[in-house]
Parts: sequence; C-alpha cells; structure tokens
Amino acid sequence: ALKHSYSTKAQKHNQRSYNYVQPQASYKVAVLGAAGGIGQPLALLIKMSPLVSALNLYDIANVKGVAADLSHCNTPSEVADFTGASELANCLKGVNVVVIPAGVPRKPGMTRDDLFNINANIVRTLVEAVADNCPDAFIHIISNPVNSTVPIAAEVLKQKGVYDPKKLFGVTSLDVVRANTFVAQKKNTKLIDVDVPVVGGHAGITILPLLSKTKPAVAFTDEEVQELTVRIQNAGTEVVEAKAGAGSATLSMAYAAARFVESSLRALDGDSDVYECSYVQSDLTELPFFASRIKIGRNGVEAVISSELEGLTEYEQKALEALKPELKASIEKGFAFVQKQP
Ligand code: NAD
Ligand code: LMR
Repeated sequence: ALKHSYSTKAQKHNQRSYNYVQPQASYKVAVLGAAGGIGQPLALLIKMSPLVSALNLYDIANVKGVAADLSHCNTPSEVADFTGASELANCLKGVNVVVIPAGVPRKPGMTRDDLFNINANIVRTLVEAVADNCPDAFIHIISNPVNSTVPIAAEVLKQKGVYDPKKLFGVTSLDVVRANTFVAQKKNTKLIDVDVPVVGGHAGITILPLLSKTKPAVAFTDEEVQELTVRIQNAGTEVVEAKAGAGSATLSMAYAAARFVESSLRALDGDSDVYECSYVQSDLTELPFFASRIKIGRNGVEAVISSELEGLTEYEQKALEALKPELKASIEKGFAFVQKQP
C-alpha cells in the first residue's frame, strides 16, 4: 500500500510539474546558433513547449552535445542536431518557426552596431538558407544589431523572391520583459499584471518604453519616467558590464525569445488573441521598420496596433522624434549591406 501511494504521489507530481507536457500540437521549430549562450537555454525552454513536435538545432560548433543532452528531457518534441553548412538545408525543411540567435555578442565598451560587420554576414547566409528551404516559416531575428539585421533579412528574402513582411520579426520582447520587471519593482505592483509596450527599435535611445500606456494604469512622476526609460534603454549594457567580457544577456533573452516563440505557435494554432511587441515592417511611422505592439495570427502579423502611438506624452513624443534619425540610419545600413553585394 505504501509503495502504491508513493507511486501515485510521484505520478501526480509528474503530471503537475512542467516537465510532463501533453502534446497539444505539432509544430517544427529550428534554432540557428543553438549551442550559444542564448541558444542553449532557449532550446531548453522550447523543448518544454506542448506545441512543438520537432526541435531542430543548428550551430557551426558544439551542437551535438547540446542536442543529446536536451533529447533526454521527457517532453514530446524530438530533438535533432545539424552542423556545418552542408546540414543547414535539412535542418530547415518543413520548419514553421526559425529562431536566429547566431552571431557574436557585445563586450563592455561596444555598441550593438559594432557587431554589424560579423553578424550581418551570418544573418545574410542563414536567411538565404531559410529562403531556399522554408520560405513560409515565421523568422525570428535575435542577432544584433536587430535594427539592421532585420532589414538585411528582408532584403535577402526580397532578392530570393520570397519576402513576406508579415512573417519577419525582430525579437524585441526582452525590452518588454525588462520594462515590466523594472516598473513592477519601482511601483511595487504585482508583476504578473504589468504590461508596458516598448516601441521603436532595439538599441540605446531607439528603445522607447511607452510608460504612459502601462496596463494597468500607473502614475509616474517625471523623474520616475526619466529614470525608468534610461534604465530600460541601458539594460542590455547593464548586463554586458556585469558579465565583464563574458558576453551579453542570454538567460533573460532566452526567456523573452521563448515567450515570443510560444506566442507565434499559439497564433499558428489558431489562437485569435495573440499580441506581442516586435520590430517589423510597418507604416506606423515614416520608417520602413518599427517596433510596436502587433497582433499575430496564422499568417503572421495580422495588425500593427496604431492606437499605441496616439496620445503620447510630451516626453514620449520628443523621444519618438529623437530616435528616428538613428533608427533610419541603421535600417539604411542594413539595406545597403545587401544591395551593394551581388
Ligand atoms: P554566443 O557567442 O554565446 O552564441 C552565438 C552562437 O552562434 C555560437 O554558438 C556560435 O557558434 C553560433 N554561430 C556563429 N556563427 C554562426 C553561423 N554562421 N551559423 C550558425 N551559428 C553560428 O552569443 P549569444 O550570447 O548567444 O548572443 C547571440 C546574439 O544575440 C548576439 O548577436 C547578441 O548581441 C544577440 N542578442 C540579442 C538580444 C535581443 O534582444 N534581440 C538579446 C541578447 C543578445
Ligand atoms: C540586450 O538588449 O541585452 C541585447 O541586445 C544584447 C546587448 O548587446 O545588449
């Protein structure tokens, strides 16, 4: 009897705990750069999703061990490893969502744009393979500088004749995650409820949290707005400095990216109530790409929520105008990178 009750308890525990996941759908997800600082914890979080049946991991090094390790988790998805350019096509065949965190991270003293020369080439090569092998997939770009790597991806897809602007996303969900956390800390509110839209781009002053649009409504003093805005804009640098040469945000990024993957999968699965902030092709401003809240549906971006930019405070309006030249230059730099190379 003792034995029986023990096993029943263990079973119940298993059923309650997050590692016992009932399959609910069967989407294929690929992570490119899967052995990296972001790639590994991101792959783990995706492995926990009940919506995923296949998890394809690609990297130029060390991916075999990561895949072997992850494959022992008793969750539904099948993990497969792919390495080297010759295996990239197979990694991507039939995939619904491709997440790209491949590339070098910042060290103290660097801007995200300092990563351009290396990461632009990496993103270009990987997106070419996406265009050739899974042109209908949702593409999530994490590699920095996001303000330029997303326009690079768009140009590559255009050259390949498969660009669908509704399916190309710059991942800016970490900015929202940070804004929610810092606002809840500052205002002593329940974290689970806080939702701060973050618009613009993903570097320095181009990151614009719209604190006046925080839900549920919170009142901020001018000093609080200034302090929170600057902290959210510099949060990446805060982590880069704390890591002191060992890289940039990986764990919080994996968390934020996994949330974006899960939202995308729910949208693909027919959930009609999926909203996230993301850096996408947009006509919200005069800039061709802009991060804002979007509605995601089965076919990708279903709507860009334009009301978010209405009724801004004077502070936000000024910050919005101030970010445009930098964001515009980063977009043009991305376009030019692809256009000037045959
Ligand atoms: P990392 O160096 O730990 O990992 C990068 C991985 O990419 C490595 O495993 C490397 O082997 C792999 N890689 C390099 N070239 C590749 C190629 N051609 N194909 C496939 N894989 C390749 O770096 P990280 O900390 O994981 O950061 C990765 C990128 O994400 C950086 O550019 C960083 O700036 C960016 N990042 C973006 C955000 C965001 O909010 N969007 C947040 C954090 C980091
Ligand atoms: C972040 O915001 O943490 C990332 O963009 C990485 C970085 O370089 O700050």
